Amino acid sequence: MSYPYQIKSLEQYHADYKRSVDDPAAFWSAIAEHFTWKKKWETTLNWNFTEPRVEWFKGAKLNITENCLDRHLEKSGDMPAMIWEPNDPDEHHRILTYRRLYEKVCQFSHVLKNNGVKKGDRVCIYMGMIPELAVAVLACARVGAIHSVVFGGFSAQSIADRLYDAQAEFIVTCDGAYRGQKDIPLKSVIDDALIGNRIVKRVIVATRTRTPVSMIKGRDVWWEEEINKVETMGLHDFPAEEMDADDPLFILYTSGSTGKPKGVVHTCAGYMLFTNYTFVNVFQYEPGDIFFCTADIGWITGHSYIIYGPLSAGATSLMFEGVPTYPDASRFWKIIDKFKVNILYTAPTAIRSLMGFGLGPVHGHDLSSLKVLGTVGEPINEEAWHWYDEHIGKKRCPIVDTWWQTETGGILISNIAGITPSKPSYATLPMPGVQPILVDESGKEIEGNSVSGNLCIKAPWPSTIKTTYGDHERCRTNYFATYPNLYFTGDGALRDENGFYRITGRVDDVLNVSGHRIGTAEVENAINMHASVVESAVVGYPHDIKGQGIYAFVIYQGSHAQNTHGTADLIRKDIHQTVTRIIGAIAKPDKIQFVSGLPKTRSGKIMRRILRKIAEGETENLGDTSTLLDPGVVEEIKNGKL
Ligand code: WTA
Repeated sequence: MSYPYQIKSLEQYHADYKRSVDDPAAFWSAIAEHFTWKKKWETTLNWNFTEPRVEWFKGAKLNITENCLDRHLEKSGDMPAMIWEPNDPDEHHRILTYRRLYEKVCQFSHVLKNNGVKKGDRVCIYMGMIPELAVAVLACARVGAIHSVVFGGFSAQSIADRLYDAQAEFIVTCDGAYRGQKDIPLKSVIDDALIGNRIVKRVIVATRTRTPVSMIKGRDVWWEEEINKVETMGLHDFPAEEMDADDPLFILYTSGSTGKPKGVVHTCAGYMLFTNYTFVNVFQYEPGDIFFCTADIGWITGHSYIIYGPLSAGATSLMFEGVPTYPDASRFWKIIDKFKVNILYTAPTAIRSLMGFGLGPVHGHDLSSLKVLGTVGEPINEEAWHWYDEHIGKKRCPIVDTWWQTETGGILISNIAGITPSKPSYATLPMPGVQPILVDESGKEIEGNSVSGNLCIKAPWPSTIKTTYGDHERCRTNYFATYPNLYFTGDGALRDENGFYRITGRVDDVLNVSGHRIGTAEVENAINMHASVVESAVVGYPHDIKGQGIYAFVIYQGSHAQNTHGTADLIRKDIHQTVTRIIGAIAKPDKIQFVSGLPKTRSGKIMRRILRKIAEGETENLGDTSTLLDPGVVEEIKNGKL
């Protein structure tokens, strides 16, 4: 057997699950024995959800990169760790063996050190999907710095907020990034983010698009020149920093229902264990398999299942720079054919968008290497599930529907490929160590089957969120205070007659647009920055491809129809510009309806429930509107629906 803790039968799943719940410490410490430690732990688990305080493997010392790189060198040094497929299919792909990746990480660790990066420092990484991004992430982990990767689609303002929140002194970026037909000037966005910033000391710039960049003396250096210095000195190794089990590994900002994005913190030992365990089990990875996760490393899926999970398992991880529809909608299928991909892990939104192109792009590509398919990020509708099953998996590949969150670090609820049953649009059963429960509004547990409620987890798993950076109280109030002694996910779920879970979507004010999390409050704040916007309310509505679209109701100063600033369409474009500047293009509303008022209670609270219904196309049953300050406004909004 390749991984001693790989679940190989349904009976074993049930037995392992039981053991994991009966004695979590014994269960996880046995698995931890299969990793490389500089010093073993004294206690496996201490926890208390009220503070919250969750400590795994206290007393242990390790470096996650020794588990991702060094320990594979002897046996698998020549095995591909990473295959990189560029945006443009005419450009040559790259293959980094474990040895090569190790060397590159060690060299860049020297570069970080030479530029003043020390253990515990925050390094913001804003790069396109090139191997150097993975190298930068791993080098941070090797020197003990805390990486904070920011997705390339976020604006200068978003980066500035994240830099400030993390008090980051270092940035690693690229001149630009290719994404489909676009050429995104990353360094120039960073330059904008740095206006007025007095904290950042060094920006390391890797070349990719060689778009003109302004390099500032004393602050900006080229990646390649820094690497050259290290190479000239003949440095190929870098001693991995000794980290405590619970030292922060990274910060990843994610949207919540209120305020600015929060910096979710994960720590070294538990995160390593759980991403590895779930990777090996959910996908039933076998050594030599080619694993293709289509996510961007700027999101948690990329962190956990392009980098840490696969590499800690000695796997081959395929990293793709482009988008599914460039140069055409056959891109994924061409890549699968070209590299004989065995496992494909993608998002429902990508499947739905590719479905829209019909079967033409699928035909003529050999997909017979595929063994397992996976989805993540949002509920998958049955139609998309069946299309994926029939036309991509040819009905012989199990589909794993993996439910998890930035805060959970790794997959919590999912079927295990070919081992536990699947059911279209159901994430099904919890992973060992994960104890989901459903509760009602008052926090009372809803027992039995064929029920629905708010999804909570009642005990820690190894990659439980550690804190929200710089504000532990926010972590407590957001996740551990809604229901005493429970981690609240923010998702609603139902449990069918067999005890299988189906995640139905967020029950808070968080939207899931194309699998990207966006808070309604965040979008409203951005819209409200527009000088002529008086007030706005943002809700989600069902969108065929994106899952959810963003619908904004906006009160515009004066009458938008006869405004000196131009037509309603022009004003909509102005608002788009504002949102793009404040958050990034991913948060642009799909629909903007101008209204003269918003439905509010007498205490001034916006009744989003009503707006949500209108945005969904409901006109009749809007529920009780008698508590509204001005019920008349509802008629107007209904009549003006886009
Ligand atoms: C949603 C992504 C249904 C859910 C890994 C969750 C899902 C949010 C699924 C987290 C799934 C993720 N089925 N919904 N299989 N996976 N979600 O933090 O609403 O970007 O709370 O993490 O995505 O999004 P995040």
